[in-house]
Amino acid sequence: MNASEIIKLKQTGIQAIAAAGGEQELEAVRVAYLGRKGHLPSIMKGLKDEDPAERGEIGREANAFKNDLMNAINARRTELESGGTEADALDHSLPGQWHSCGTLHPVNLMIEEITQIFRRLGFTVADGPDIETEYHNFDALNTPSDHPSRDIQDTFWLDSGALLRTQTSPVQIRVMESQPPPVRIIAPGRCYRRDTTDATHSANFHQVEGLYVDQGVSLADLKGDLTYLAHELMGPDVRLRFRPHFFPFTEPSVEYDFSCHMCGGDGCRTCKNSGWIEISGAGMVDPRVFEKVGYDPDVVTGYAFGMGVERMAMIKYGVQDIRHLYENDVRFLQQFK
Ligand code: DAH
Repeated sequence: MNASEIIKLKQTGIQAIAAAGGEQELEAVRVAYLGRKGHLPSIMKGLKDEDPAERGEIGREANAFKNDLMNAINARRTELESGGTEADALDHSLPGQWHSCGTLHPVNLMIEEITQIFRRLGFTVADGPDIETEYHNFDALNTPSDHPSRDIQDTFWLDSGALLRTQTSPVQIRVMESQPPPVRIIAPGRCYRRDTTDATHSANFHQVEGLYVDQGVSLADLKGDLTYLAHELMGPDVRLRFRPHFFPFTEPSVEYDFSCHMCGGDGCRTCKNSGWIEISGAGMVDPRVFEKVGYDPDVVTGYAFGMGVERMAMIKYGVQDIRHLYENDVRFLQQFK
C-alpha cells in the first residue's frame, strides 16, 4: 500500500470513528483498523515488499495512521462517556423547532390595503425617488421658492441642492412628464420633513398619492372614488365630506373627512366629538401644473389626492401614538396580521 492509499484509508477510519454511536461500535472500528487482523498489521507486513526508495515515507504514514487513529478513538471514547456530542443527543422523534413567521408592518399593511382598493378602480402603482429635485418637489407643483406653503414643508437638503421629498406629490410630475394622458396612478412612498417627533409627527412618514387625469374628470369622480375608499377601508356606513382648503397645485382644493367609524358620526373620543375624522388633502389639478408637464389644460382635467399612511393606520387600528410605529417593539407589531 503506498503512502497516499494509507492516508485515504486513515481518513475513512477517522470518519468511521466519528460516526460510532457507542462503545461497541467504536471497538469494532478499532479492531478493524488497528487490531491484530486489521489494516495496520497488513500495512506493516507489506512494507518489506515496497520499493526501498519509498519505504521511508510509507513507514512514516503507517506511524501516523496508527497514532492519528488511536488519538481519534480516545477522543471519541471520552466524548461518548460524557454523553456524546450534541448531534448524538438528538432525539429525531421530537417535534421540530418552531420559527414564528414575521408579520407585515402596519404601515405596509395600510399601503397594501389602499393599493388593492385603488387597483380595483383601475389605478396602477407609480414610484419616484426619495431624493428629489427642488423642481419636482416644489416648483413644478406651482410652489415657487417664495411661496409661504414651503415653510410648513421644511426638509433635509443635500449639498447638491437636492432634497428629501416632503410629499409624494412630485411623483405626479414625474409620471405626467413621462407619458401622455390619460393617467391613473397611485404612488405610495416615504416622505421627510423637519418635524420634531411627537405623538402625531415623525420626521419621516409615508403618503399615498393619487392622480387621475383624462378628459372630463370632475370633482364628482374624486368624491366617488374617495367614498369607495372610505367604504372599503372603514365599512359601508362611513360617509365622506369635503371642506374647502388650499394647496398650490390643486384648484379648487379640499380637505376630506370620513364620518367617525367608532360612533357613526354622533361624536366620541376618537373624533373629538365632531363626528368626523380628518383624512387629508385633495383637489382638481391646477392648470399651471398641467402646463409645466406639457398637458393641455383646455383638453384634460384631473383630480389628485395625498393621504398620510401613518395617520390612516392610526385611525384604522386605533394606535394612539405614531412613535409606536417606529419603535420596532414586536409585542406591538405582531398584533397586525
Ligand atoms: N402633498 C400634500 C401634503 O403633503 C397632500 C396633498 C394635497 C396631495 C392635495 C395632493 C393633493 O395630491 O391634491 O400636504
